[in-house]
Amino acid sequence: MCGIFGLITNQEIDIGKITLESIKRLEYRGYDSCGVATITDGKLFIKKDAGKIDEIHKKLKLDSFPNGSKLAVAHTRWATHGPPTKINSHPHVDCSNKIAICHNGIIDNFIELKEDLISKGHEFKSETDTEVIAHLIEEFMNMGLDFKEASKEAMKKCVGGFAIVACHVDYPNYLIVVRKESPLIVGIEEGKTAYCASDIPAFLPYTRKCYVLNDNEMAVLRAGEVEFYSLQEEKKISKELQEIEWSIDAAEKGGYDHFMLKEIHEEPLALRKTLKIPKDEIQKFAKILVNSEKIYITAAGTSFYASLAGKFIITRFLGKYIEAIECSEFQIQLEDCMENNAAVIAVSQSGETIDLIEAVRWAKEKKNAKILAITNIVGSSLTRYSDEAIVTRAGPEIGVAATKTYSTQVLTLAIIALEIAEILKSIPDEELEKYRKALAKTPDIVEHLLNNDIKKLKKIVRNLEKSHNFFFLARGISIATAKEGGLKLKEIACRFVEGYSAAHAKHGPISLVRKGFPIIFIAPPDETYERLVGNVMEFKARGGLIISVVVESDKIISELSDITIRIDQPASKYFNLFTPITFIPALQLLAYFYAVYVGLNPDQPQNLAKTVTVH
Ligand code: F6R
Repeated sequence: MCGIFGLITNQEIDIGKITLESIKRLEYRGYDSCGVATITDGKLFIKKDAGKIDEIHKKLKLDSFPNGSKLAVAHTRWATHGPPTKINSHPHVDCSNKIAICHNGIIDNFIELKEDLISKGHEFKSETDTEVIAHLIEEFMNMGLDFKEASKEAMKKCVGGFAIVACHVDYPNYLIVVRKESPLIVGIEEGKTAYCASDIPAFLPYTRKCYVLNDNEMAVLRAGEVEFYSLQEEKKISKELQEIEWSIDAAEKGGYDHFMLKEIHEEPLALRKTLKIPKDEIQKFAKILVNSEKIYITAAGTSFYASLAGKFIITRFLGKYIEAIECSEFQIQLEDCMENNAAVIAVSQSGETIDLIEAVRWAKEKKNAKILAITNIVGSSLTRYSDEAIVTRAGPEIGVAATKTYSTQVLTLAIIALEIAEILKSIPDEELEKYRKALAKTPDIVEHLLNNDIKKLKKIVRNLEKSHNFFFLARGISIATAKEGGLKLKEIACRFVEGYSAAHAKHGPISLVRKGFPIIFIAPPDETYERLVGNVMEFKARGGLIISVVVESDKIISELSDITIRIDQPASKYFNLFTPITFIPALQLLAYFYAVYVGLNPDQPQNLAKTVTVH
């Protein structure tokens, strides 16, 4: 939610171009307005407006900076406080027009701070919470503090979750960067240039060396150097320099029309890399789950649906119930009844979803829970609050709709499940081997679909063009696939979709079905198949347009269907358990082609942002 970027250099580099390209790489975090600022000859230069970056760039030439600029702060916005207008766009300034600030997150106590600052004579221009920070720093500077000390004091007064980057015309040799809950990474080209950004891809083409800021930490960025401070303990701190492994290509579109399409095509590789997660990492997780009396799994959105699939697979071998609960409901529903010492599996692509972070912090601090994190981001907040963390190997995911991170999350949970089977000996060794082989085949199955079925999936969307409502129905483990496939279509193609249990759909939703109403059935040949046949017939009898996702050899449901999507995998119980991984790319592609067909940009669904750092 919002992307911030900062840069300070002593090199003759094209700061304007770098800044524009960097905020473009953060655009997935918010795209309703943007802005850039720099300082030259003791003056602040700001360009900002409402709209997408490309539109604003056409009007304002965002990459054209005054000669001699050696620093930049920049922002791409997902509106929280105040609608997307030019005035509400970042950077925001103080009364003297000397401080420029970009911010991601929310200042919870901004009303109180604003009233106090107004009473002291500060004049506000925008409706944002962000502007308070600029005036607060100014206020502390009016009391005699320098920019660094004033920023520190100002940030101590702010309650909430945020990350900021700020510059001051009288202090053009450094930028201030502060993190509390919202992500912030510092990149460094030693002796030359320092960067900060909400996410690594922003500066990945320029450096792979980075520091991850923790909560309540401040960094002072100078050309090619950085120093860190703790906000709470009033002292300088040292941090470990990390090397980023992601390739630059991974953060670029690489010839595809959209990041989403590129990332779906990266699924086979992401799955293969995730299959190689070292056994000792998996074992630690598995042992904790085997030894825990009570287990919860929690997440939001797509990660929650991955959790539903993963919970199903794990319970097969663990023989214990796992309670799946959305992270936003975790504390409120468990406040009075959660046992002490439970294990909590927390799943999050970004590792920054605020509701999840709050849930795990509460479970850890108040219920002494063991937190087992599955995330795609090394050093994310979630990894810091967890006892054990597994990092999925999906690589950077820029498209707002989660795709490869979903399948790698399910795969990771499946690998843990098989490890549990090995520890508990819950199935004979030969069976375990067959499950392992089936799981190892999942990247090949996905690759086969990508190599052979793209044209067919593209064609299918033409039959659905006029439909505005859809059901995605399934039973058993495939309910997770139905919900996730439905969510993809809902979020990027702006259609109303209900992802639901096929059995339960009789208890209400079926009343909506008329001639031509599209229903997508997820129908692997597992123990639910026979009953699903009955459900398909019920919907067909009412005129529904039946689209089914089945295995290659399917006969009955495909015969009943108007349109069939076949996944080339054996009709075997070993493969059925992993269909949340092998069936989902077809549904991701369907959603993608549908969005493109109806003229929407799948990488920028309206009202959404990739990392949800507000409640
Ligand atoms: C949908 C999507 C969201 C996220 C959700 C949780 O395509 O991406 O539903 O899954 O916001 O995000 P993470 O996994 O970062 O916690």
